[in-house]
Order: sequence, then structure tokens, then C-alpha cells
Amino acid sequence: MSVIELRNVVKRYDTGGEVVEALKGVDFAVEPGEFVAVMGPSGSGKSTMLNVLGLLDVPTEGTVLLDGRDVTDLTDEEQTEERRRSIGFVFQNFALVPTLSAIENVELPTLFAGDGGGRERAEELLRRVGLGDRLDHRPTELSGGQKQRVAIARSLVNDPRILLADEPTGNLDRATGESVLDLFTELRVERDVAVVAVTHDPQVSTYADRTVRLVDGRVQGE
Ligand SMILES: Nc1ncnc2c1ncn2[C@@H]1O[C@H](COP(=O)(O)OP(=O)(O)OP(=O)(O)O)[C@@H](O)[C@H]1O
Ligand SMILES: [Mg+2]
Repeated sequence: MSVIELRNVVKRYDTGGEVVEALKGVDFAVEPGEFVAVMGPSGSGKSTMLNVLGLLDVPTEGTVLLDGRDVTDLTDEEQTEERRRSIGFVFQNFALVPTLSAIENVELPTLFAGDGGGRERAEELLRRVGLGDRLDHRPTELSGGQKQRVAIARSLVNDPRILLADEPTGNLDRATGESVLDLFTELRVERDVAVVAVTHDPQVSTYADRTVRLVDGRVQGE
């Protein structure tokens, strides 16, 4: 069974008069442990699709399924709970908390889970992305690529089964990008984590099981 699925998803943004149809009937499904790259021109709806998959935005029409269960119409609180349990998200702009250090940013999602051990997991993940010597730096004291790696560590701290990443290697040099992609591969193999990565980077596609192209709000075949 697919771990996450979109059925005929339409997303319209109504910005006072002008309506933008960002997704025009998208069907998309991801199997456990699968790595799917999503490519396409700027403005084609990639971030919108990722936000809908991550229960951060609701579709105007269509259905979102988690493990075959319809989660489209859950309340905000229920969606937040599903997200916390199952989904890790790496935002295009990182979305780190500026007043918190690297390790505090990574630990943050665990504070709501209340199962303890968050600080140790945060440290281990930061070491794994090569930031063991930057634990106490704030975001303003980190480079773009380092912030990206903090965001990746944070997305993994609650042990998600689905990792949704918007341009996860966008600010990384080739070697660091490869180490992030190797980390994704380990998570897939060790824990069956499904990865959906929006990217402009052809290197990401070479790691993916398949690449989906989004053009003007529609999936263009694989
Ligand atoms: N909150 C919003 N309100 C209104 N329009 C929006 C909103 N978010 C996105 N859009 C519009 O929806 C379309 C798709 O945007 P989206 O951010 O999904 O593109 P993208 O494929 O991620 O592009 P990029 O590669 O530049 O990140 C664009 O035309 C954009 O202007
Ligand atoms: Mg985008």
C-alpha cells in the first residue's frame, strides 16, 4: 500500500480577484522506502504539491491518503498529530528559529512528542550531517548549506516514515549534497523511509527510484 497518495488534487489560490490554479488534478503515490524526485519549472506547483503531501495545506479538490486512510478532512489538530507522527519536512527556506541554536532547532519537534531523548538524537543527527562542531551556533552564524543541513537533521528527529524535502541540496556543494543523498539512502534501506524531493539538481535524480515532472500544475509522465 502507498504510504502517501494524492488523488485528483486541485489547488487554487484566490488572492483577491485573481485565481491561480497551482495544481490541476494531480495523481501521485509513493511506496514505503521509495525515493521520488519531483522536477519542473519554477512556478509549476512543486512546493504546493509538497505542502499538500505534508498536510501543511489543504487541497481545493481531491483526496490525500496516508497509509490508505483519507486524511483530507481531518481537523488542524489531527493533521498536526499525523504530521508529527509520520512526516518530516525540509522547507525551501529552511524555516529555522533564529533565536535558537542548531541543536535546539533540531530538538524542537521532539519537545511536542514528549518521549524524551530528543537532545541526544538531535546531536547524533547533527553529527551525521557533519555539523558536530556547530551545535551551539545560531542560524545567523551558519552558512546557507549548514542551515540546510540543520533543517534536514530537524526533519528526521521524530523518525518520520515520509520525508518531504524542497530542494534539499539546493545550497550544498557536490560533496555535501552527496553525503545528504547518502543519508537519505541509508534511511530508506534501514528504516523504509519514503523520500519525496523537489529539485532542480540532476544529481538528485540519479539517486531516485523515479523522477516525476510537474509542468503547469500537471504531472507529465515519468
Ligand atoms: N500562497 C499563495 N497564494 C497565491 N498564489 C500562490 C501561493 N503559493 C503559490 N502560489 C502560486 O502557485 C504557483 C505554484 O507555486 P509553487 O510555489 O508551488 O511553485 P514551485 O514549482 O515550487 O516553484 P519554484 O521552483 O520557484 O520554487 C505559482 O504560480 C505561485 O505564484
Ligand atoms: Mg518551490
